[in-house]
Amino acid sequence: MPLKAIFIAAGLALCLTANVLGRPNVVGYYPNWVTMPSLNLSMYTHVNFAFAIPAAGGSFTYDNQEAMPAIVSSLQAAGTKAIVSIGGWTGSGLFSSILKTPSSRAALLANIVSYLKQYSLDGVDIDWEYPGRMGDTCNVVDSTNDTDNFLSFLRDLRTQLDMAFGSRSKLLSLAVRVEPFDGPNGPISDVSAFASVVDYINLMMYDIAGVWNPTTSANAPLQYAPGQGPRFSVGSAIDAWSNAGWPFGQMNLGIPFYGYAMTANTNMLQNPSNMYAPISSIAPQGDQDDRAVAVQCSGAPAAYSGEWQWKHLRDQGILATAGTAASPWVRTWDSTTSTPWLFNPSTNIFITYDDPQSIKLKVSFAASKGLAGTMVWGMEMDYSNELLDVLHDFPSSNTTSTSTITTPTATTLGPSGTTATGNPSTKPISTSTAPTSSSAPPTSAVTSTTSSSSSSAGGPVAGAACPATGSYQCADSTGKSPSYLLCLYGKWIAQSCGSGTACFQAGSSISCGWPQS
Ligand SMILES: *[C@@H]1O[C@H](CO)[C@@H](O)[C@H](O)[C@H]1NC(C)=O
Ligand SMILES: *[C@@H]1O[C@H](CO)[C@@H](O)[C@H](O)[C@H]1NC(C)=O
Ligand SMILES: *[C@@H]1O[C@H](CO)[C@@H](O)[C@H](O)[C@H]1NC(C)=O
Repeated sequence: MPLKAIFIAAGLALCLTANVLGRPNVVGYYPNWVTMPSLNLSMYTHVNFAFAIPAAGGSFTYDNQEAMPAIVSSLQAAGTKAIVSIGGWTGSGLFSSILKTPSSRAALLANIVSYLKQYSLDGVDIDWEYPGRMGDTCNVVDSTNDTDNFLSFLRDLRTQLDMAFGSRSKLLSLAVRVEPFDGPNGPISDVSAFASVVDYINLMMYDIAGVWNPTTSANAPLQYAPGQGPRFSVGSAIDAWSNAGWPFGQMNLGIPFYGYAMTANTNMLQNPSNMYAPISSIAPQGDQDDRAVAVQCSGAPAAYSGEWQWKHLRDQGILATAGTAASPWVRTWDSTTSTPWLFNPSTNIFITYDDPQSIKLKVSFAASKGLAGTMVWGMEMDYSNELLDVLHDFPSSNTTSTSTITTPTATTLGPSGTTATGNPSTKPISTSTAPTSSSAPPTSAVTSTTSSSSSSAGGPVAGAACPATGSYQCADSTGKSPSYLLCLYGKWIAQSCGSGTACFQAGSSISCGWPQS
């Protein structure tokens, strides 16, 4: 994907291991360029150190290597597998040439084995972005041979790991994009040979939206709306790999703990059921950590990525609570992509992101398909474990009702948005506000279901005049209906919370939550 460093990747365990432990994978990437906040490491089953960067001769370097022994010990003491991840967005430039040159290929194999030994690591993750396809602008790419060379390399890596440490005693995982590896004619149709030597893949199911697209769209859609935005989604990615012979039980679904800002050329709140509006090709600055960086080798001027980490949506006054926007931002839910989006009508800035509500739906979907678990980019981006907690709700048995997660048909083209709430009439909540609920989804905390004004009998109706843009009203007060009204420019507009959820009133705000059972 153009612009922007998107790294990634992930880790795994034998599916056998997963079954034995009875614990879904929760793989976290630990970037070595950030200061990690203190985390409860046992909430991750695997942590991948990101990234070791390969050099032409087959050696690789990992910044902050001095800290490695202590981190590995603390992970292993917490019962978490410690894995080194090689490559990443900016570290994939030379894989193609290293793997096709016998001397550097042999050196890389030997260096991985000795690195695992030296640091007592539990495995290695290869994050080549991408075999047979350009990732970062200056990468070496050989669309004819990369994918074949990768398979042959992975077979030898598996053999050498098994010889050095015992059969299948070290993990070998891959971070992959939304389609199988590329051959000369596009994504290959059979990846089963890879699956026989690799423990699992981590699906980098994000960075789908971006300023290289003509319109706003979702960073990590659960499903895509045909004809709108890029044709990639959690559903399409899992299908693409599965159709090429990759077992569901060897996939972890990547979940972004961040989103992206884009500048729309229109006030999207005038048609909140449409999350696709033309955009400027220049991203606005995202959160306080977003820096303008030059794209390697392109000669293009430095540009922001527009990235908003979850913790900064929470602590920079964009969201007042996990499911509620702070004025002037308005939060809308898109029911096709099953993601929220934020809009600021005074700047026309749109933000696509994931929150506890959208992640809950992704986790249910992944579990219903029989995936091994989830992967997170990046571990440092959470806020009081609000998102990580949801990954721990990965159902251990397949009890998910498919009605909440079915693939939309073409009839859902005009997604009927939903969502939760912004209360534009309140001041942005101070950044020191403690999170109200650490365990996610929508909300169960709403107690003040209004009795009078919101009943379906006496309440407002769609089309009627409303007093304050940005106020919300559940269609009824039973806590069972998903319908609600949003006041925009003088008129109530009918909206609906996501399938399977219900509207809860809280003052002039609402939230969409799971109906109380
Ligand atoms: C850390 O997470 C584990 C796994 O979720 C949990 O059992 C444990 O209680 C947590 N420890 C602390 C100190 O919160
Ligand atoms: C791909 O491999 C073939 C066979 O080994 C070789 O002839 C060809 O030059 C390679 N292509 C590139 C771009 O290196
Ligand atoms: C889970 O249940 C759904 C609905 O019955 C079914 O379509 C799906 O195949 C099941 N998944 C697994 C992994 O058994």
